Amino acid sequence: MRLDQSPLHDKLISHAKRFGTIHMRDLFEQDPQRFAQFSAESDYLFLDYSKNRIDQDVLDDLLALCEEAGLSEYRERMFSGEIINQTEGREVLHTALRADGAKSLSVGESNITGEIQLTKEKLYRFVEALHTGEHLGYTGKRIDTLVSIGIGGSFLGPLLVNEALEHYAIDGLETHFVANIDGTDLTRVLNKIDIETSLFVIQSKSFKTQETLENALAAKAWFLANGGSESAISGHFVAVSANTSLAMEFGIEAENIFPMWDWVGGRYSLWSAIGLPIIFQIGASGFESLLAGARNIDQHFCKQEASSNLPVLMAVLGVWYNNYLGAETHAVLPYDQYLKQLPGYLQQLDMESNGKSVDIDGEPLTENSGPVIWGDIGCNGQHAYHQLLHQGTRFVPVDFIASRSTHNPLAQHHQHLLANCLAQSQALMAGKTLEQAEQELRSDGYSEADVARLARHKVIAGNKPSNTLVMEALTPESLGALIALYEHKVFVQGVIWGLNSFDQWGVELGKTLETQVYQAMTGQAEIELDSSTQGLIDRLTMRSEV
Ligand code: F6P
Repeated sequence: MRLDQSPLHDKLISHAKRFGTIHMRDLFEQDPQRFAQFSAESDYLFLDYSKNRIDQDVLDDLLALCEEAGLSEYRERMFSGEIINQTEGREVLHTALRADGAKSLSVGESNITGEIQLTKEKLYRFVEALHTGEHLGYTGKRIDTLVSIGIGGSFLGPLLVNEALEHYAIDGLETHFVANIDGTDLTRVLNKIDIETSLFVIQSKSFKTQETLENALAAKAWFLANGGSESAISGHFVAVSANTSLAMEFGIEAENIFPMWDWVGGRYSLWSAIGLPIIFQIGASGFESLLAGARNIDQHFCKQEASSNLPVLMAVLGVWYNNYLGAETHAVLPYDQYLKQLPGYLQQLDMESNGKSVDIDGEPLTENSGPVIWGDIGCNGQHAYHQLLHQGTRFVPVDFIASRSTHNPLAQHHQHLLANCLAQSQALMAGKTLEQAEQELRSDGYSEADVARLARHKVIAGNKPSNTLVMEALTPESLGALIALYEHKVFVQGVIWGLNSFDQWGVELGKTLETQVYQAMTGQAEIELDSSTQGLIDRLTMRSEV
């Protein structure tokens, strides 16, 4: 059912009107149990969602939206391998990659549980051979550097995890990521690495992605031009792909291609062989722990009732702000240096999944779908864009993420980091009234004239919502849980909005047009273009080098 046709829609609109005059400051003052009432947890994650503009009535109606949208059936259809990605005719089974192997699952004729197991064994054997030196480079040196070449979902997940789990990295290994077709990206990496000890992993589900293929070709050319030979390529180039024939055409030997499957979406693929850079960095047992953390949230998501189900709660709160309180963006602010890549990862996960304008039947959506996701690590953002969060005219709900303990204790740094995180959510919630601002100025010795002139600039409206996710520590398990939490949050929102979260047709037009523009730019074809594009081509091709 379309959101605006739901009987709950009008109720939520009137709740939103009612909340126009309710300040969270008052809600906290009136109810000392608010934190206990509006918090929930799983084994690895604790969620405080009490600093949201909700009461129990709002929450009940938001949760009822899930029921009305058929969330339980949809969830079951996803986990059991039905084709819920209708526009691509695909199952959505990233959860099978981390499932308990005891329960077997089939797609068509294939027993995918067996395939997943075999692929993991092959990956683990391969990485073990790299680590032990059984697989050596062409001059007999140990491979200690992995260069991942891939983009989008074949890049962002491993990048996030490898940076987040740096503390767990096996000593003496280096991983580099190359994604962009900007030559600077590959050149910088090639300038750093030793050809004799480096392995290139070409990561592409389709093996058709231009950026990845051009970078892979350039890496191969570099390898051949710098001492490597054709016969040495097999020892230095492997691929992860669902398109074995194209990978082989490129020159990767069949035994060096790790499979992926159609039923794993790119942005959900870090749990598959696309996780090879992760396995290289933290080993098979670390990867298994990551999978276990994600599995823990899968089980939580399937079993926990909606009112204490973390992804469901985060999803409905997002819908509340997105569809009823006018938020257009959502900020993710990890207070953890290791999670710097999380906002970028979530941009693809959320915006490629739910950045849609039609519903599952192709009918135009009448309500907003996914918000703009953005963010960066705290405290850095506090000295940049938090000003807008506190006093701007935009309304931006926030997710804060923090860990109780740190891998890098240093003086009082961690306590300050946590204190800053909590102070930000507190400031967003409570704000500062005009009376408080005036009082503050008076006690700082300002004249009454200055108090009158300055106080309004110092008022902070507050009433800005945030969730705070807390982990005991950033470990493979808790990271796996965190990522799976967001995956399911995005899924639940897609179900409520009635759209297909698993296709991404919007990215195709740019790819097609690039081919034309490239041909026009390089003089390979005469193509009639709009005057802006043609004018820019003329300007950009006036000189080919600076
Ligand atoms: O351009 C978008 C996209 O199709 C993503 O969905 C995908 O993760 C990425 O490109 C890379 O695709 P591939 O793994 O097939 O190279």
